[in-house]
Amino acid sequence: MEQQYKDILDLMRKCGEIIKNADRESIAIDEKTGRANFVTEYDRMVQDKLNQGLSEIVNDALFVGEEGETNTFSSKGKYFIVDPIDGTTNFIKDYHMSCISVALMKDGEAVFGAIYNPYLDEMFYAMKGEGAFCNEKKIHVSSEPLSNGLVLFGSSPYKAELSKKSFEVAYDFFTKALDIRRSGSAALDLCAVAAGRAELYFELNLQPWDYAAGSLILTEAGGVITDFEGNELVFDRPCSVLARNGVTEV
Ligand code: IPD
Ligand code: CA
Ligand code: CA
Repeated sequence: MEQQYKDILDLMRKCGEIIKNADRESIAIDEKTGRANFVTEYDRMVQDKLNQGLSEIVNDALFVGEEGETNTFSSKGKYFIVDPIDGTTNFIKDYHMSCISVALMKDGEAVFGAIYNPYLDEMFYAMKGEGAFCNEKKIHVSSEPLSNGLVLFGSSPYKAELSKKSFEVAYDFFTKALDIRRSGSAALDLCAVAAGRAELYFELNLQPWDYAAGSLILTEAGGVITDFEGNELVFDRPCSVLARNGVTEV
């Protein structure tokens, strides 16, 4: 692996320590636009550390992070798309299901993606064309059909208008699969499908920082990812996401 990618993984592990060692007695929490949408001082702290560290590692790359004031996506050149804490509500609740997600984009497509779960010390990563890994071990999607599968979903919690439809689709998948799960972290859900721990994941509305790294990890692990209509994902605006192993019919 190139040194700059190793350096990114090291930086993410350090940020994982910040999340794990958060002073849980006094976490400053602010509300953002939408239903039940929060940001904590730790989201901002981790984003600042990543912004600074990543610009030292790849100094010709721009930075887009969820907690940024102004975010400009670009289809030209290099830029990072970062979610400093994916699973903020889980973090606030001390639910131990949150991660850091970093994607390096080049001319509109992800060339490197890493997702770190500090609670399990699991580092998922992928380089374009070189496969996907979890803690240095190659990972692959499962070959189970949906009827023998676990379906993961996100409820698009910040968009109340999508709740009913989300649960209707989840119910439909539930009737066709073994069971469903809702973790609270889209990035970790994508890694779970990539690692063959689940067969399908969907969410009706996500932001590029939720899926930029996970989409590369999933496809490098042999999976398929599109929006809900079967179109290629876009990385410059929100979209729906449907991710699965290559076998699962939808
Ligand atoms: C959220 C999580 C959640 C998903 C939401 C995301 P955040 O990200 O990934 O699982 O359902 O749609 O926005 O806000 O915790 O970074
Ligand atoms: Ca997120
Ligand atoms: Ca976040």
